[in-house]
Amino acid sequence: MDITQFPSWRRLNSLAEKMHGRQLRDLFNDDPQRAARFSVELPEFLFDFSKNLIDDEVLVNLLQLAGDADLEGWRDQLFAGAPINRTEGRPVLHPALRGGLSGSLQVGGAPVDVLVDSELQRLKEFVNLLHNGVLAGCTGRRITDVVNLGVGGSHLGPEMVIEALRAYRRDEVRIHFVSNVDGAQLHDVLAQLNPETTLFVVSSKTFTTTETMTNARSALDWFGSVASPEVVLQRHFVAVTASPEKACAFGIAPQRIFQFWDWVGGRFSLWSAIGLPIAMAVGFEGFRALLDGAATMDRHFRQAPLERNAPVLMALVSLWYCTFMGYPAHAILPYEQALHMLPAYLQQAEMESNGKSTTRAGEEADYGTGPLIWGMLGINGQHAFYQYLHQSPEVVPADFIGSVTPGHPLPGHHEILLANMFAQSQALMNGVSREEVEKELAARGLRAEEIRKLAPYKVHRGNRPSNTILLRKLDPHSLGALIALYEHKIFAQGVILQIYSFDQWGVELGKGLASALQPQLDSGDFRNQDASTAGLINFYRRVTAG
Ligand code: F6P
Repeated sequence: MDITQFPSWRRLNSLAEKMHGRQLRDLFNDDPQRAARFSVELPEFLFDFSKNLIDDEVLVNLLQLAGDADLEGWRDQLFAGAPINRTEGRPVLHPALRGGLSGSLQVGGAPVDVLVDSELQRLKEFVNLLHNGVLAGCTGRRITDVVNLGVGGSHLGPEMVIEALRAYRRDEVRIHFVSNVDGAQLHDVLAQLNPETTLFVVSSKTFTTTETMTNARSALDWFGSVASPEVVLQRHFVAVTASPEKACAFGIAPQRIFQFWDWVGGRFSLWSAIGLPIAMAVGFEGFRALLDGAATMDRHFRQAPLERNAPVLMALVSLWYCTFMGYPAHAILPYEQALHMLPAYLQQAEMESNGKSTTRAGEEADYGTGPLIWGMLGINGQHAFYQYLHQSPEVVPADFIGSVTPGHPLPGHHEILLANMFAQSQALMNGVSREEVEKELAARGLRAEEIRKLAPYKVHRGNRPSNTILLRKLDPHSLGALIALYEHKIFAQGVILQIYSFDQWGVELGKGLASALQPQLDSGDFRNQDASTAGLINFYRRVTAG
């Protein structure tokens, strides 16, 4: 049944009108237990969702909506390996990669746990060879640098995690990432490296992505006369892919092709062999701890009642804003330098999953399905875009993410950092009223006329909602739990809003047009193009012709 037809949906629509008139400060004043009641404490972190524009009635109805949407049924289907990615006819089994399923499961006649374990074992052995210095290039020199060639899900997860786990990095090898087909990136990375000691990991689920395959071919050319291309491919290239036959055809040695499967979505694939650079950077044990942390969140998501279930609550709060309250954007604000890539990672995870407008019934959704995700390190954002968060007419709900324990030994820094994080969510919530501003200006000795002129600019309406996720410590285990928290939040939100979260048809159109257009840059035959595109091609051709 169409989700918008449920009474809970209609009630939430009218509650949204009511909540627009409520103040967060009043919600706290009315209920001294609010912070405790609207928080979930897990071994890895405290999830505080009390600074949201919700009350008990809203929450009850959101939970009712989740029930009406059969969230628990869909969750069971996910973990049972049902083909819930229906437009691609596949199950969605990234939890299986981290032991997040309870029993053993077969997909296409193959036992999933056996496949996963054997690939993990291969990964472990390869990483050990690398760390022990046994892995040598074609001239016999030890591999010291690894370059991951991949884009989207074949890049963002591994780099984000490696950055987040800086404090856990081993020093046997340096890891580099090249995702952009703009040759400037590959060129810059190669300029620092010696081909004899460099290994390339070609990471691509499909092994057809233009950006990645172009970079792989240029990387191969870079070896020049060091050895024949056949030898270079065998000694200096590794593939991670769900299309091993294509990697083999490219010339990569079969024993150096690490596999994952079509039941792992690209943006959910860091737990698979796509995580090879992670294991190289922090060691296989570190990678294992990351997987274990995610499995902990899988269990929480499966077992906790919906009203105490962190990813479910996050999803409900998120859809409350983008679907009912009319707040279409959501900021990700980490207060932890190591998490600087988290906003970029979550942009793909959330927006490629729920940035859709066709419902499971094939109808046009006439409601918001997922927020526009953006953000950056909170402390830097404070000196950049927080002005907008505090005083723009638009309300942007936010996630503040930090950890109690610093990832460095320098005294005095962490308290400043956390004090800022706590203060910002408080400032967004409380704001400053006209009356308070006037009082403050009068206390500073300003004259009545000056106060009248200045006061309007200093008013902060407040009432701007946020979640806070406060980790005990950022380590491989808690990072795994944090990422899986968002993964399940995304899934729950998609299910409730009746969206297929695991396909990404919207990225195909541009890719197809680019392939068709590319030869026209050379040929000059672009009669089929619209006037603007033709003008751009024309300008390009004029400039390149000199
Ligand atoms: O951008 C679209 C996309 O298909 C993503 O979903 C995916 O993570 C990325 O491209 C890379 O794809 P592949 O791993 O097949 O190279």
